[in-house]
Amino acid sequence: MCLFCYKIIFTLINKILTYSPEETQEAGFDFASTINLSDVIGFTGELGSGKTQFIKGICKYFQVKDVVNSPTFLIVNEYKGSLNNKDITINHFDLYRLKSESELLSIGFDNYISENSICLIEWPDLAIQHLGIELKSVNFDYRNKENERIIYT
Ligand SMILES: Nc1ncnc2c1ncn2[C@@H]1O[C@H](COP(=O)(O)OP(=O)(O)O)[C@@H](O)[C@H]1O
Ligand SMILES: [Mg+2]
Repeated sequence: MCLFCYKIIFTLINKILTYSPEETQEAGFDFASTINLSDVIGFTGELGSGKTQFIKGICKYFQVKDVVNSPTFLIVNEYKGSLNNKDITINHFDLYRLKSESELLSIGFDNYISENSICLIEWPDLAIQHLGIELKSVNFDYRNKENERIIYT
């Protein structure tokens, strides 16, 4: 990639530092105002890097009343939320345990993507492979400071 393109992309990426789970939730809450209905968003980063905390903040923005937790064992959680006084569905995936695209299809992945819902996907690699498009994504990182998380939106 040319240096000019690299510089444009670099200035478009927003970098946020947080120092507690609550701050990461607030970052998710703020980010949620940029989400549109029918968006499919991937969340990447190691275990414990803050993906689920950030998604909790997104869900708070959409007035979700259900408990938001990583759906690691269920693969997908469906929450009822609201946007502009309209009921919406938020589908929260964690694809960490899935091993193949056929496993993704067997959970009915395609049925979750709709005009009236938002899909938030932790460990999105199989979804990206299946959809064949780049997803809007949020990336999480942590270095040596215990509670510091670096979030790229
Ligand atoms: N700045 C921070 N942001 C988010 N989580 C933090 C932060 N500092 C410490 N933590 C802890 O890190 C863990 C993040 O967990 P979680 O959001 O479930 O990660 P992931 O979904 O990426 O596996 C939680 O145990 C949380 O208490
Ligand atoms: Mg998680």
